[in-house]
Amino acid sequence: MKLAVVGGGSTYTPELIDGFARLRDTLPIAELVLIDPAAERLELIGGLARRIFARQGHPGRITTTSDLDAGVAGADAVLIQLRVGGQAARLQDETWPLECGCVGQETTGAGGLAKALRTVPVVLDIAERVRRASPDAWIIDFTNPVGIVTRALLKAGHKAVGLCNVAIGFQRKFAALLELAPADIHLDHVGLNHLTWELGVRRGGPDGEDLLPELLAAHGEAVAADLHLPRAVLDRLGVVPSYYLRYFYAHDEVVRELGTKPSRAAEVAAMERELLGLYGDPALDEKPALLAKRGGAFYSEAAVDLAASLLGDGGSAVQVVNTFNNGTLPFLPDDAVVEVQARVDGSGPVPLAAPRLDPLYAGLVAHVTAYEDLALDAALRGGRERVFRALLAHPLVGQYDRAEGLTDRLLAHNKEHLPWA
Ligand code: G6P
Ligand code: MN
Repeated sequence: MKLAVVGGGSTYTPELIDGFARLRDTLPIAELVLIDPAAERLELIGGLARRIFARQGHPGRITTTSDLDAGVAGADAVLIQLRVGGQAARLQDETWPLECGCVGQETTGAGGLAKALRTVPVVLDIAERVRRASPDAWIIDFTNPVGIVTRALLKAGHKAVGLCNVAIGFQRKFAALLELAPADIHLDHVGLNHLTWELGVRRGGPDGEDLLPELLAAHGEAVAADLHLPRAVLDRLGVVPSYYLRYFYAHDEVVRELGTKPSRAAEVAAMERELLGLYGDPALDEKPALLAKRGGAFYSEAAVDLAASLLGDGGSAVQVVNTFNNGTLPFLPDDAVVEVQARVDGSGPVPLAAPRLDPLYAGLVAHVTAYEDLALDAALRGGRERVFRALLAHPLVGQYDRAEGLTDRLLAHNKEHLPWA
């Protein structure tokens, strides 16, 4: 089996390699190609990747290249994990929305729109080249904003599945709190990427006993602390929102906080410098502990699970993925991309029947879906007015003067990446 990673020079890659090495029985990789335009960084990461495989006795071969077409040729699956404009662009996304009183975040709100506009054309171009080089390859998209990027890929007819680590993170956390094995926890995970709620925490599988009331009663404090939300909010809702919901439920509080501390982009940039220093040490042959401070915990395990199910029969039968709605949430268009539990095999994901979503959440999901539709339109066709329409439609923007101010700033800060701006 041959796997290619586009954006293989990411400081995150050792997390992925560590998962591939540990879980080699689930996903037997013969050849792994790390692809990245940043040749020097790629060598550094490639070297560490080989040492991690060697330490764990993984027989697979790891190669590196900056030639995308050659790298993806003959691949069975291609993982795309890239960040157009790097942390510098992220820093902008997290900063200028604050000037308009809106949250500055890499995937939520106006910053997320900027990221979508920069990213969709790049990922579509890569996917086209993957399709030419390896028509049967599966594309696994980690590239944010995952919902919009996956929708772009699927609408262009690509064999693509979007993936995020929020669900697997909750599964691991809840399993630890309940003293169960992660595989024994099935989440009723419903919504859009970075806009989900855990409506149930079931023992054993989709029909198992719901342990969520017990979890909240016994460990509500710990769960709420991770989300930086008051426990009372969780108790009143009786569900667990993802931490991205804090940008909605505590929007103004977050805006105030963000005004008083360094941005996440700045923190991550500092961590990346330190990580790259560590990766250069020829004695290092495992992922360093510092990597755990990044948000991507467990994404390698989610990737292994998904790739194994798409390419063979190794992965879990049911997994949380981003895919076409196709009636799963009946109040959304079929071609919306939802993040839900799905049965996954060689022919792709098929969502399980989702539990009914309370209007308390369904309204927001519908609202953000409409924004995503307009965001994708702006990303594909460009134009100031399309950017304005997407922003006006976003539930965290909504007012014309804010949308106007955000549009000006988004375009001014992204000229380099948006040929039409
Ligand atoms: C989580 C999200 C990812 C996001 C990451 C950011 O893992 O699911 O989509 O990219 O957090 O983490 P960072 O360490 O870059 O802030
Ligand atoms: Mn994510």
